[in-house]
Amino acid sequence: MQQKNPFMISFSRKPVEYIDRPEQTEVILSTFRESPVTDQLFMIMGVRGSGKTVLMSSIANTLAADKEWIVVRCTPTGDIVHTIASELYNSNKFHQLSLEAQVNVPFVGHVGISSQVPEETDLSKIDKALAVLQQHGRKLLITIDEVTNTPQMKEFASVFQILIGKERPIYFLGTGLYENIMPLQNEKNMTFLYRAPRIVLGPLDMSAIARSYQNILRISAEQSVELAKLTKGYSFAFQVLGYIYWNAMPVKTVDSILPEYDDRLADASYSKMWMEMSETDRKVCRAIAENNGSKIKDVRETLQMDSNLFNVYRVRLKNRGIVNTGEYGKIAFSLPRFTEFVQNRSMLYEI
Ligand SMILES: Nc1ncnc2c1ncn2[C@@H]1O[C@H](COP(=O)(O)OP(=O)(O)OP(=O)(O)O)[C@@H](O)[C@H]1O
Ligand SMILES: [Mg+2]
Repeated sequence: MQQKNPFMISFSRKPVEYIDRPEQTEVILSTFRESPVTDQLFMIMGVRGSGKTVLMSSIANTLAADKEWIVVRCTPTGDIVHTIASELYNSNKFHQLSLEAQVNVPFVGHVGISSQVPEETDLSKIDKALAVLQQHGRKLLITIDEVTNTPQMKEFASVFQILIGKERPIYFLGTGLYENIMPLQNEKNMTFLYRAPRIVLGPLDMSAIARSYQNILRISAEQSVELAKLTKGYSFAFQVLGYIYWNAMPVKTVDSILPEYDDRLADASYSKMWMEMSETDRKVCRAIAENNGSKIKDVRETLQMDSNLFNVYRVRLKNRGIVNTGEYGKIAFSLPRFTEFVQNRSMLYEI
């Protein structure tokens, strides 16, 4: 028996029990690596806790291990463009190349009082470095987790577009929440991010989840399928349910661990999503939770909303990854135990 719980309930770190997303990984890697290069950027999107940060880091790590790539990780509130310039010139991979190419590597951050030439801009430093990389068939990847509309992000956006226009080997991988990326369509310089090819993270492979539970928790195939269904493939839920089950072993009935499951989902994920919703989004969620097996018609009647207006909310909640509208005329939450969360929330806080 393993001594330590292998499931991980902290965000952002690659978990020990990691379920591959082979298709999405492959789309990004092959687009970036294989010529002809059709796209130099991707946005990874999906609801909170779907695994955006984990997937982005995994791809960044794969490329960082490749000698052809230099990877620079930035944050939306840091001085992005300056970080890129300084990390690029400080990287060993670039140093080796520039020694071979005998280029004069400018000292980044140097403010020479006695210097005769005006200080070079970060853009021109990056451009020069990219020219060297290009000569050697090397590439630069910039990653930014949780893209939001910041002045630094705007500055980066314009620099990136200039460099793409010069056909430099610069690539970008970002993550973002639907509600933060949507408003970028009306922002100067930022529309290219809104239009970037998107990888939307749906549920993890359910049979892989069941297999993992069966192996780690030493339960039967039937029990593991029952547990997997309780996660609906939601990445964070997969970790949480495994974590709680492991700690509670031997578990007599799954029902006995549901209260803790609900608490942890609410604390680390659902409460945050709820706070980020508009009052009408919440009303729509309450109506879905009230109408079990929700027919759209019943939900609309509860809300007294016409179908055009309802459609606006339906599409928005779907794009955020909160509801599913797969079956015709029906609507349901795509997140596990979200019905219970909404019902609890209404009972406890909103009378
Ligand atoms: N491929 C995966 N297989 C198994 N578990 C995963 C996978 N991807 C993510 N997780 C788990 O899901 C949880 C959330 O992952 P992550 O932090 O990447 O989400 P996120 O989409 O970046 O969330 P947020 O929008 O809040 O930043 C973590 O507990 C992580 O361990
Ligand atoms: Mg994240």
